[in-house]
Amino acid sequence: MQSTLDSKIHAGIIMDGNGRWATRLGLSRSQGHRAGVRAIRPIVEAAKDMGVGTLTLYAFSGDNWKRPPAEVAVLMTLLKSYLAEEIETLVAMGVRLSVIGRRDRISPALARRIEEAQARSASAGALHLRIAFDYSSRDAILDAARRSRSDTTREEFARLLTGGAPELDLVIRTGGEQRLSDFLLYECAYAELLFTARLWPDFQPGHLREALAEFRSRQRRFGAAPAERVAA
Ligand code: IPE
Ligand code: IPE
Ligand code: MG
Repeated sequence: MQSTLDSKIHAGIIMDGNGRWATRLGLSRSQGHRAGVRAIRPIVEAAKDMGVGTLTLYAFSGDNWKRPPAEVAVLMTLLKSYLAEEIETLVAMGVRLSVIGRRDRISPALARRIEEAQARSASAGALHLRIAFDYSSRDAILDAARRSRSDTTREEFARLLTGGAPELDLVIRTGGEQRLSDFLLYECAYAELLFTARLWPDFQPGHLREALAEFRSRQRRFGAAPAERVAA
């Protein structure tokens, strides 16, 4: 099943802008994060139907621990409730869920919930949904480097790093910033980057459709010369 998914698009989304979305409406940042969680299901469902095989959502970066403890606590609680409330829906949709990132700084209860959700959905094959949580690409690369040897090949290194997930085809960042903020740096070597000012809670399936259309209109060359035009 994995090979079928590999031939489809691997899209990543940096889900940014929850705080600004809330502030604009006079709401708390926590309410913004809750709205951000509500935006996920329609996007996952649409991604599955739009030729995406792997979808990686950036939910909490290693650097997000710098936020006030109360906000961090809300984000932890939201992942826990998301897993509890969504896992059966995900399985029914044929979605396999993985959470990438560190496990040693989150609570044992949350780590257990992650393992259960991953096990519950392990055989689903319509879409691989990866949630990056307490995730730092620099840490992930360092960890893979520590496990590699001096003669490790590029392919072996990629496998050590990603566990077999394909490299990124497309990264969408909502919220207007034009940076990767430590998201999948190695795996994005040839990813098409797409930045939108739309805030994550406002991002809807139609916007994903537009992003995929833009992706498909781009010519990816991977360093090769441009494809020759057929003479008229
Ligand atoms: C994204 O929204 C969610 C996380 C990074 C956890 P933000 O909380 O960064 O929202 P803004 O960027 O402050 O609007
Ligand atoms: C990136 O957003 C991380 C996530 C969306 C989870 P941030 O809001 O943390 O990024 P910066 O600080 O603007 O770079
Ligand atoms: Mg932000």
